[in-house]
Amino acid sequence: MEQMTAKTEKKNGEGVKLDTLKITDSRTGKQYEIPIQDDTVKAIDLRQIKVNSDDFGLMTYDPAFMNTASCKSKITFIDGDKGILLYRGYPIEQLAEKRSYLEVAYLILNGELPEKKQLTEWTEHVRMHTFVHENVKRLMEGFRYDAHPMGIFVSTLAALSTFYPEAKNVLDADTRQKQIWRLIGKVPTIAAFAYRHSLGMPYVYPDNDLSYSENFLSMMFRVAELKYKPNPVLAKALDVLFILHADHEQNCSANTMRSIGSSQADPYCAAAGAAAALYGPLHGGANEAVLRMLDEIASKDKVPAFIKDVKEGKGRLMGFGHRIYKNYDPRATIIKKMADEVFEVMGKNPKLEIALELERIALQDDYFVKRKLYPNVDFYSGLIYQAMKFPVDMFPVLFAIGRMSGWLAQWQEMLTDPEQKIARPRQVYLGYQRRNL
Ligand code: ACO
Repeated sequence: MEQMTAKTEKKNGEGVKLDTLKITDSRTGKQYEIPIQDDTVKAIDLRQIKVNSDDFGLMTYDPAFMNTASCKSKITFIDGDKGILLYRGYPIEQLAEKRSYLEVAYLILNGELPEKKQLTEWTEHVRMHTFVHENVKRLMEGFRYDAHPMGIFVSTLAALSTFYPEAKNVLDADTRQKQIWRLIGKVPTIAAFAYRHSLGMPYVYPDNDLSYSENFLSMMFRVAELKYKPNPVLAKALDVLFILHADHEQNCSANTMRSIGSSQADPYCAAAGAAAALYGPLHGGANEAVLRMLDEIASKDKVPAFIKDVKEGKGRLMGFGHRIYKNYDPRATIIKKMADEVFEVMGKNPKLEIALELERIALQDDYFVKRKLYPNVDFYSGLIYQAMKFPVDMFPVLFAIGRMSGWLAQWQEMLTDPEQKIARPRQVYLGYQRRNL
């Protein structure tokens, strides 16, 4: 498939003049011609626009990066209006149906799907890194019995930095690769230990005879069985959920990973920051918030009153709306279909009825239609997680396990991009000018 940047490169190669933007500064009457490349102008090209030689030059003002590309990327493509999501060019629907999470993680990180031998090696490397140092376990034991597992997860990721001091050699490709194996291998273990801690149950060590998702289920739910055999429908569903969450281009947590990584901090500290960003209810914490919202609504007949409150600004319909998708989130479509298979094994989640009614009413209500608010990935994922017996507190942690591959791919792409530097936005200062005491 043709790469997205080919159009501009070809134009350059053939010596065709690049498109430009002509600007007239009404303050001075001066005219400027700014190159347009890949449908963007470089913000730094505006700096030449000055009122006089003392002037700092024009900047763009873009709180929350609503219209600013912070990087060039070849990892994930989203067309929010059409509801399209591609990892390295492959549609999410095809990957979810035909590939495993570890294959998709390899694809995201390396650009191509693994050949058979590459997959065997990759799986082996990840498997070899599923265990954590006993001191990591002891560190986790120090948290309060009721600590939120996401808080434990974030802190433990950061603590890994102290176990692997060589990880700070972020410009060395081999060192980076080793930390990638370690992080992808260890996150299910840390996540499961965080859960077992909250129950006061002994931690279950990894079982490396199992697949990535099966092993995670074993570490979560094994009690006294000699060999835990996860239900294949549930293991597959979890694997698909990891695939759906693997990457989502420059979202809040990926941007955090890149931003921390840009200072050349080690990937454990950067991933801890990314996970912290994910924790918020407007990002990865939304699936937890959806379940709490459904609990609060409690029954189908209370849905109209809840929608009315949302429209009056008394809270949000969690799991609805997205900065990029202005159409049905393709991940939500896959999850909605998969929910039936999980419910068949585990029994229907009684909250499904409320969720379906919320969706039915919202999708025909002017407020939501006008604002293009559709269900996002988190609207149904929580219902599946709950049916699979994951406690609500664990939802953002599950999201983080799948997203680790995306964070690492974004981090690696940033470090190897010669155009990147330490991330450091500008500000528009509106405070006092210098004043004396
Ligand atoms: N319920 C009700 N109204 C909403 C919702 C919602 N879920 N989302 C957006 N709106 C309204 C806003 O009030 C605003 O209305 P206005 O124009 O009258 O002021 C308009 O829609 C635009 O909303 P913004 O907040 O400007 O949109 P933004 O792109 O900044 O926010 C976000 C996107 C944060 C996802 C938002 O839709 C939201 O809060 N959704 C609920 C939380 C959620 O589900 N987050 C998960 C996102 S997916 C993910 O991270 C995996």
